[in-house]
Amino acid sequence: MKLLIVSDIHGNLAALEAVLAAEPQRDAVAFCGDVVDYGPQPVECLRWVRESADHAVRGNHDNAVGFDMDCQCMGTFREYSVATRAWHRTLLDQTDYEFLRQLPTLDLFEWERKHFRMAHATPQGDLFEYLSVEQWRDRIVGVDADFILLGHTHVQGVQTFGTITVVNPGSVGLARDRQGEACYAIFQDGQMQLKRIPYDVECTIAAMRAAPLPHQVIDGMAVALTGIR
Ligand SMILES: [Fe+2]
Repeated sequence: MKLLIVSDIHGNLAALEAVLAAEPQRDAVAFCGDVVDYGPQPVECLRWVRESADHAVRGNHDNAVGFDMDCQCMGTFREYSVATRAWHRTLLDQTDYEFLRQLPTLDLFEWERKHFRMAHATPQGDLFEYLSVEQWRDRIVGVDADFILLGHTHVQGVQTFGTITVVNPGSVGLARDRQGEACYAIFQDGQMQLKRIPYDVECTIAAMRAAPLPHQVIDGMAVALTGIR
């Protein structure tokens, strides 16, 4: 039995499709938030999450699109997300908006006799704070779970503290730890495994270049996607 864990897809369909092609056999899917903003195919990615994720939580970008609010990002990524969000908001229909708004900020579920606690940014269900792996230990005090699944930082990590294992599967669509790869995790036969695969990043950039976005945003996103200046 295999649980596929994905996060931070950010409208990057080529990256998502690469993950799905690499893991064709899936018994369940958990999504740690942020399906929209940044990438060129938010609708296709959102509808895949809606139809395929057995468990899903709301990311800060899902929240920003769904409720027309600030994503509370920093620096140039904030500028890119403001531009891409305005575009994405023209692409989604009412059912898509309602899906984003109804996503919980915390999902507790059981799978294969293990207790999972999933949220976007912190084990407590926050959407915005950036927690490094070094900060995980302090934040799990008093939390009851076998596995805590988090996204948000776009950096993969897994660490076990006593009986609790914290996992960040990394970002499918906008990895910050090694660009041009789609990151995810699988939980299979009692083992948690981080995985990452190359995808057709040029396909994503070509779709960005066809989008009604300012050139500086497209050029900046191309750098963010490839890591190449
Ligand atoms: Fe994200």
